[in-house]
Amino acid sequence: MHKAQKEKLRDIFIGMRRCFKCGKRASLYLFQHRAAFCREHYLEWYLKRLDETIKEFGMFSREDRVLVAVSGGKDSLSLWDALKKLGYKADGFYIDLGIGEYSEKSRRLCEEFAKARGLKLHILHLGLEIATIPQIKSIEKRPACSYCGQLKRYYMNKLAKDKGYTVIATGHNLDDESATLFSNIINWNMEYLERQSPVLKGGEGFVRKVKPLFKFTEKENALYAFLSGIDFVEEECPFSEGANSIEYKKILSQLEERSPGTKLRFYMDFLRKCRPLLGAKEIDLRACQACGEPTIAELCSVCKLRQRLNSRILSS
Ligand code: AMP
Ligand code: FES
Ligand code: ZN
Ligand code: ZN
Repeated sequence: MHKAQKEKLRDIFIGMRRCFKCGKRASLYLFQHRAAFCREHYLEWYLKRLDETIKEFGMFSREDRVLVAVSGGKDSLSLWDALKKLGYKADGFYIDLGIGEYSEKSRRLCEEFAKARGLKLHILHLGLEIATIPQIKSIEKRPACSYCGQLKRYYMNKLAKDKGYTVIATGHNLDDESATLFSNIINWNMEYLERQSPVLKGGEGFVRKVKPLFKFTEKENALYAFLSGIDFVEEECPFSEGANSIEYKKILSQLEERSPGTKLRFYMDFLRKCRPLLGAKEIDLRACQACGEPTIAELCSVCKLRQRLNSRILSS
């Protein structure tokens, strides 16, 4: 673990309190839950809370074949590790975006994680399927994160269907989800608000998508990874710099510091009190004429992107 990461976690590693479960000297204290834990009971608490969340939201059962989308970061690798410990059938999927050293290191960490535990990991090279993110960046005006997100969702769904997985799980955490909610509210982005949920139903060409870690903060996942000996990539994607979500995360973290539990309350109250009032609109889906994936137009957004890339190559 790097020095910066250790410093980030230091504030919650405190030695004076006692573990609420066994009474031994605690290793950490979670302000949000007002609970102190030793290592063993933190890991136990994390697994129990994760399993309860999966059941509470009907995400999947032990009969499901889960495809865990892993980025090499603390959240998704912790999720994969925890799901295996809980006895779920879970394989990994890494999409190599071709972002230089960042992608290479992330891929290596995913491969090492899978190898050390004897787990199955699928790898897809974006450069071989369509083009790398830096190549696309050179022709698209939009921020990289927007087509990158689209491509990741497209290939997750496609691979899950091709290989017979019944559910896709991502490592989105409470910091991600509350910042997205904040951004969707600031911009009154009703379409996104209607779809913001830890469970997206499957059907009509889509495999169910779930976010089992949505109740855990980034720190809680980092603690799980650290205490479980998981090696993860700490660098952020070089294209994420300046993203609005980083600002929103900062603002929410300031509120959380003043009033622990704010992020979780904000997100859970949205799910309980607001989302049921929104009623998602029916979307008319059809199969993309080129690739067969579900879309609202004749061609899906990935096939349109492919066309733009091809015409660019032909004209140069
Ligand atoms: P991010 O959008 O980078 O915050 O990632 C959110 C989640 O998407 C991660 O926790 C992973 O589950 C998944 N993910 C991100 N990048 C990749 C990738 N390169 N390959 C597979 N899954 C990914
Ligand atoms: Fe997609 Fe950075 S991870 S642009
Ligand atoms: Zn204990
Ligand atoms: Zn298509």
